[in-house]
Amino acid sequence: MIEEFIQKLPKAELHLHIEGSLEPELMFKLAERNQVELPFSSVEEVRAAYEFSDLQSFLDIYYAGAGVLLQTADFFDLTWAYLERAHRDNVKHVEIFFDPQTHTDRGVPMRTVITGIHKALEQAKQQFGMTSYLILCFLRHLSEEAAMETLQAALPFRGWIEGVGLDSAEVGFPPELFERVFAKATEEGLRKVAHAGEEGPPEYIWQALDLLGVSRIDHGVRCMEDEKLVERLLKDNMPLTVCPLSNTKLRVFDKMEDHNLKKMLDVGLCVTINSDDPAYFGGYMNDNFLATQKGLNLSQEDLIEIAKNGFRASFLPQDSIDYHLRSIDEFAAKQNK
Ligand code: ADE
Ligand code: ZN
Repeated sequence: MIEEFIQKLPKAELHLHIEGSLEPELMFKLAERNQVELPFSSVEEVRAAYEFSDLQSFLDIYYAGAGVLLQTADFFDLTWAYLERAHRDNVKHVEIFFDPQTHTDRGVPMRTVITGIHKALEQAKQQFGMTSYLILCFLRHLSEEAAMETLQAALPFRGWIEGVGLDSAEVGFPPELFERVFAKATEEGLRKVAHAGEEGPPEYIWQALDLLGVSRIDHGVRCMEDEKLVERLLKDNMPLTVCPLSNTKLRVFDKMEDHNLKKMLDVGLCVTINSDDPAYFGGYMNDNFLATQKGLNLSQEDLIEIAKNGFRASFLPQDSIDYHLRSIDEFAAKQNK
């Protein structure tokens, strides 16, 4: 059964916004704990509001939901709930985005945010053997100056941060606006990724590569509109962290059958599957693998290649990558017996 195959396949998740894993049940629990008023009266009402027409219509609700996160324990509980869920999906390694500005702009200190998340990551290492990295994202609808201040505020926690990213509303906020803050991140020895080509044009992917010097593109599905760009991505073996359920929920593609992931895979791009904001888009890792497999009729070989790409594209050291690739090979060998 394909469900069981996907369940057992060892996976890495590289595109996950921790604020996007806030399930309505936890949102209500934290609202009560922190005496925060929510614009919804029930979990069902929240879920019913999750009908999006584009990225912005989602971001409005996503930033409002994050308003219940105030204390270290809230960030711990949020992260722990995600990690437990990912562990159940047989996810072995995660690289987690967080949006500090969503919190610091409400008066929550950087220390509170990072400490809560970090503690949960440590516990998952101890309890599940799950490895992880933390990636700090700058909100691109805010200024580069604000991003620079955010980076400075995070530097006391440099040891807990692996890299920086760029997210939020894409169109109208091209990567070129953030060249200096990414240069500063380079000086600090941080890895770099950026959302590009989700709703924005291929030009934004070129800028992320050439001006920001990223080592992965988040989403990147619009690269297929530009042949020269595809050649470049192939030449650099540049990974793309694709999020299929997110793309259909935000109407980048109307339905899964229209998604271009299989075409990307077939031209040889390093495509990975990820969940983006699972609480909002109706699914975690295995749900994304399954929906994509069904929509695009992916073979077991395709799924194995995608899972391997997740580890190849990770920031893990090479010996760990090799270990995970071997474990996928061992799993695959057992399937044909
Ligand atoms: N923040 C959370 N999810 C996002 C997405 N899919 N695109 C841009 N910013 C985001
Ligand atoms: Zn994202």
